Amino acid sequence: MKAIVLAGGTGSRLGPVTRGVSKQLLAIHDQPMIYHPISTVMLAGIRELLVITTPQDRAAFKRLLGDGGQWGVSIEYAEQARPEGIAQALLIGEAFLGAGPCALVLGDNIFHGAGLSQQLDEAARLDHGARVFAHWVSNPQRYGVVDLDEGGRPVHLEEKPHEPRSNWAVTGLYLYDGRAPEIARSIRPSARGELEITAVNQAYLDAGELEVTRLGRGTAWLDTGTLESMHAATEFVRVVEARQGLKIGCPEEVAFRRGFIDAAALERLATEYGGSPYGDYLTRLARDPRPV
Ligand code: TTP
Repeated sequence: MKAIVLAGGTGSRLGPVTRGVSKQLLAIHDQPMIYHPISTVMLAGIRELLVITTPQDRAAFKRLLGDGGQWGVSIEYAEQARPEGIAQALLIGEAFLGAGPCALVLGDNIFHGAGLSQQLDEAARLDHGARVFAHWVSNPQRYGVVDLDEGGRPVHLEEKPHEPRSNWAVTGLYLYDGRAPEIARSIRPSARGELEITAVNQAYLDAGELEVTRLGRGTAWLDTGTLESMHAATEFVRVVEARQGLKIGCPEEVAFRRGFIDAAALERLATEYGGSPYGDYLTRLARDPRPV
């Protein structure tokens, strides 16, 4: 399976900061935001990534992430000229996907929690239909919302409903079979002028081919689109790290623990970060990789 990491958009809710810097390059504690979704797809065992950026931010992402070789993965780049919807990523990435299955993850989503690696690993074996990940939230009006029957099967989907039928928000991680670009091409822009990912999911639901994984209350799902939520995510990551001494969403660590790179490569990466606490963490990890 390949992955598309969508990191375009305007980040208007974080203005004026995002006039100079892409939202997904902003810091969440001591890491750029995009490290989190990249770690998520690497945790799922995916090693071929396409990062989609705005034309003006492409060079900055490339400077940060390179060709992925340092993490034992391959990273390619593509541009989204205007933020015309999340589903547009499937069209931009069509040639990269080459009719194979894919994961699509939003560049501003953070996932962390017990059992997540295993859930992702299993989900990434998908070769037919689609799978979304739902999380119980207090404010479903802000998200795509899925209503589930007693067996946990999806029965209804709605984008940003005024009167949500459930509290299950559809998170920014979607898995699709090879038909997704074709489906994205068949949908029309919504009233707000976007190719909605909910419309793609609806097509799979209509065909009876949409599966939903419910992320339990032991899993944190944070999006970082507003100043408040970004601050909350920073604080969450900082507190967990301070308490456990373990990082959340560290691609170098995922690459190492997954066997994409060895200890010597990890130590070399650590020196590139100079004497920063991040570099120190990688050095300690390379020398004492006790599993947790
Ligand atoms: P949003 O939070 O909906 O949009 P945004 O990031 O532009 O922020 P704002 O609403 O404050 O202007 O997007 C969710 C994620 O998807 C985010 O990582 C940006 C990305 N995105 C794109 O890359 N292209 C798009 O066309 C859209 C709609 C979103």
